[in-house]
Amino acid sequence: MGRTVRMATAEAANATAFSTAHAHLPYVVAPVPVTSLTTCRVLVLEWIDGRALSSMGRNAVGVQEQDARDVLHVVQMGVQASLVQLLQTGLLHGDPHPGNLMITPGGRLAYLDFGSLCTVLPHHSEGMVAALAHVATEQWGLLAADLQVMQLVKPGTNLADVEAALRAEFSGDPPPYRRLQQTPLCQA
Ligand SMILES: Nc1ncnc2c1ncn2[C@@H]1O[C@H](COP(=O)(O)OP(=O)(O)O)[C@@H](O)[C@H]1O
Ligand SMILES: [Mg+2]
Repeated sequence: MGRTVRMATAEAANATAFSTAHAHLPYVVAPVPVTSLTTCRVLVLEWIDGRALSSMGRNAVGVQEQDARDVLHVVQMGVQASLVQLLQTGLLHGDPHPGNLMITPGGRLAYLDFGSLCTVLPHHSEGMVAALAHVATEQWGLLAADLQVMQLVKPGTNLADVEAALRAEFSGDPPPYRRLQQTPLCQA
């Protein structure tokens, strides 16, 4: 966890900012930096006991029942915490892969590795909410406009082309996003 000059203190500040912004979520935990031991080259954090998500659901005899329950619990916490970051606090963990996330013995979701933290601007959050609604109502032209609000489409792009591409991508019976609802995890 050693970093180059200034990176350690920047990462410590990121971890603190993330913890502060999400203190209202009782199921989220992030390590507190030990400032007295942290230098510009070395980051020291409190230790968090837990199991990496990258190790869940995999063993020689398949997924155990307890594991399946833990996975579902983690997914629920992860979805909620991600929505809070994207839509409420606007402070997003920049690298939330399963090696940087753990489940603690008390069932909380631990975020590690604050090398990058992204800021989500309010109009980006509003674009995301609108996009969810427009996928649900299959309004592809409005969805194309939402993508522009979120700056996912370059300025000057012909939105009619984007609308046509979205319509083609989401067409099908059932459409791809509805097929997701039929996966075992969504039915559990
Ligand atoms: N505060 C912590 N408590 C417990 N384990 C940690 C903590 N910070 C890091 N780790 C462990 O060290 C690993 C690597 O740390 P991380 O910050 O993700 O470094 P890297 O930038 O190399 O990915 C993590 O996947 C986790 O297993
Ligand atoms: Mg990491």
